[in-house]
Formats: sequence, structure tokens, C-alpha cells
Amino acid sequence: MAGYLDRIGAGKVLLDKGPLSYDWIPPHLIGRDVELSDMASLFSQIENHDTSCRAVILGPVGSGKTVLTQRFGEDIQRHLDGRRKIVLAHVNCRNHPTGSQVLQQIALTLDSRHPERGFSTGEIIQTIRRNLHTHESHLLLILDEVDVLVRRDSSDLIYKLLRIDEGQEHTGSISLILVSQDHTLLKYFEPAVISRLGQSNIIELQPYDADTLTGIAGQRAGVACRTGAVSDETLSKIGRFSADVGDARMAIELLDAAIRRAEKAGRGDVLPEDVRPSTLRKASLEPAQVDNLSIHQKLVLLGICRRLKKTNEISSGDAQKLYQLVCEEFAFKPRSYTTFWKHLKALEIEGLIETKTANASAGRGRTQHITMTNTAPATLESRIEKELLRG
Ligand SMILES: Nc1ncnc2c1ncn2[C@@H]1O[C@H](COP(=O)(O)OP(=O)(O)O)[C@@H](O)[C@H]1O
Ligand SMILES: [Mg+2]
Repeated sequence: MAGYLDRIGAGKVLLDKGPLSYDWIPPHLIGRDVELSDMASLFSQIENHDTSCRAVILGPVGSGKTVLTQRFGEDIQRHLDGRRKIVLAHVNCRNHPTGSQVLQQIALTLDSRHPERGFSTGEIIQTIRRNLHTHESHLLLILDEVDVLVRRDSSDLIYKLLRIDEGQEHTGSISLILVSQDHTLLKYFEPAVISRLGQSNIIELQPYDADTLTGIAGQRAGVACRTGAVSDETLSKIGRFSADVGDARMAIELLDAAIRRAEKAGRGDVLPEDVRPSTLRKASLEPAQVDNLSIHQKLVLLGICRRLKKTNEISSGDAQKLYQLVCEEFAFKPRSYTTFWKHLKALEIEGLIETKTANASAGRGRTQHITMTNTAPATLESRIEKELLRG
């Protein structure tokens, strides 16, 4: 009877879905040691009760800006335990895009009963200040996606927060971390704000490379899944697939989708072929995407397309033979096996083809089966042929 329900709660791969959420804060960050120590040096005086520190964090989507501030905030709070009391407030300005909404969020962090309305900006800032001094606390304020606030509401609030202690007896009320994916953020600020923020307090995060993305996927798989359920090969495919954008979110999404495919198939192991091009990227490809390939990548792809018009799958060995034939036809000298293999991997990363390892691999040892699900082989074939014939 109800056998189809057996799958519910079976979890052949998954132990805990939590770490696959974007909101899960990892116990340590992969590949961000340098940036974390840069943060630590900007905050080296934070233990001192009169001191406020500042940092600006810039980087593209998925480079770990938000999680870096969260990890740093929690770590420093714990590190200073018993020496200086740190209160964390993380406000995402995309969700609270006006100065008064941001202030309201800060006030609510300090006092959950803070009334919704009825105070001016100046009054709320003084309330915040008083609250901090009464509790002998220091506020570490993270304004995430701050460009949204600044574009909409000017940098007035930031200027006021930077001056919160001016003319006061006690200093060191607030430390500020500004976060943005907009590299030109500072152009929105008045010189007075820039000089208070400090030009040298900027930390730039670069997009992640394939190895780091593999590590990020591996960290989450290690906590979310049964031991050994996700192979190293699967993880490095996830790393390669997400490396062209360098976005950690894509690596996590690919892992999540791959686990779901394996679970759906009733398997206990997540295989490389469970990793498919991300839906974050365009679901189906524009034929124009082949125009940017190198000439030999096009020749490799042309051979593959010709066969995949007729069959669903082609082995890498056959793909190489077809590549040699295509080279002959269009009078190019075929490249070495290693280069051919590199081109194959590049086409895979572009999402033009998919590969999976053959079960019994004969000969070369790493025979792969190539398929195309994102686009029609015939369309690509005629596009590449036309270009080659034009010369
Ligand atoms: N270095 C890292 N180590 C582990 N997880 C990371 C790392 N960088 C990013 N992540 C994870 O990737 C996702 C996207 O990171 P996030 O901080 O939101 O990026 P951003 O704010 O730059 O867009 C989050 O779920 C985050 O936990
Ligand atoms: Mg973010």
C-alpha cells in the first residue's frame, strides 16, 4: 500500500536541511582568512572603551560580504566577553531603505519595546546613545546594502551616526561597518563623511575561485549530509560550475539541487551528474553564446552537435574523433588530447554540454558521456557552420 510515501522522511542523503539555507552562518569561513585579519586590524582598538571603529566592505553578489560581517561580529563579541559589551545590529537597507526605518531597526535591537512613531531623527539618535551608555554597551552597527539607503535618502544619517559622540563627554558609542556591492559607493558621500569613514578602511572582496567554492559546498555538505554521501568529484564539479560567476550562493544552490535529485532517485550518494547548470543562470541558452567561444572550442562543439542530433549521448572518445574530422573538413590542425579535454571542460562550464563519468571506463581511463539538455544541437550546429563557412 502507501509505498510511495516511503520516501518521506527517508533522507538517504540529507540529515539536516538547515546548512543548505543561505541564512545558515558557518562556524568558520572558507578562504577569507586574509579579509578577516584585515577586519581585525581595523578593529584593533575596539577593546578600548572610548574607541569607535569603521570599515567599508565592497564586493560582488555572493562574495560573502554579509556572512563576513556576521561571522566577524559574533567572533568579536565573544572575544571581548567580559571586557567590552558589544551589541550587534545588522540592518539590511534594501528591506529598510529610509533613514528613519534604519534608526527604528537599531532602536528596536536595543529595546524591543521602542515605540514605532513620534520621534525626530535627532531624538531617536539620542535615545540610542543614552541606552548604550546606561547599559555600558558598544553598538557594532552593520548597514548592509547601504547604497540603497544612500541613493534614496542621502548620506545624512551616516554623517549623523559618525558624529554621535561629538561634543559629548563619553565617546566610543558606535562602530560602523558599511557593506555594498557598488564599488563606486564612496562617490555618494560628502567629503566630510569620507574623511570620517577613513579612505583606508575599505576591504574589497574578490569573487571566489573554483577551489574555494568547492570548499564552501563541501563545508555545507559535511554538516547537512551523511558522511561520504557527496563525493569529492561532485563537489569539485559544483566548484567549477559556480566559478565563472564566483558566487557562493550558486554553489549552495547547485549542491541543494543535486541532493534533491539524488534523494528523488532513491539513491544514497550524490553523483556528478546530479549537478546541473544553475537556474540562477539562464535556464536555456541563447545560441549567440557560442559566438564568444574560441575557434577550437567551436570545432569541438560542432562535432558533438552533429552526433547529438541523432543520439542522446556521445562518449568523449567519439567526440575527439569527430573533432578531428571537423578540423580536417575546415582545414584546421587538431590540437592535442589534453587541449581537447580542456575545451570540453570549458564547454561544460559554459553550460553548453553536460558530462558524466562512464561506469566502466575503458582505454584512456576517464571516458565521459556527453549530453546536451539546455539547447538544441541542430541550432548550434548551423550557427557554427555558417560562421566557419564565412571564414
Ligand atoms: N567564505 C565563505 N565560507 C562559507 N560560506 C560562505 C562564504 N562566503 C559566502 N558563504 C555563503 O554563501 C552565501 C552567500 O554569501 P553572502 O554573505 O550572502 O554574500 P553577499 O552578501 O556578498 O551577497 C551565504 O549563505 C553564505 O553563508
Ligand atoms: Mg549580502
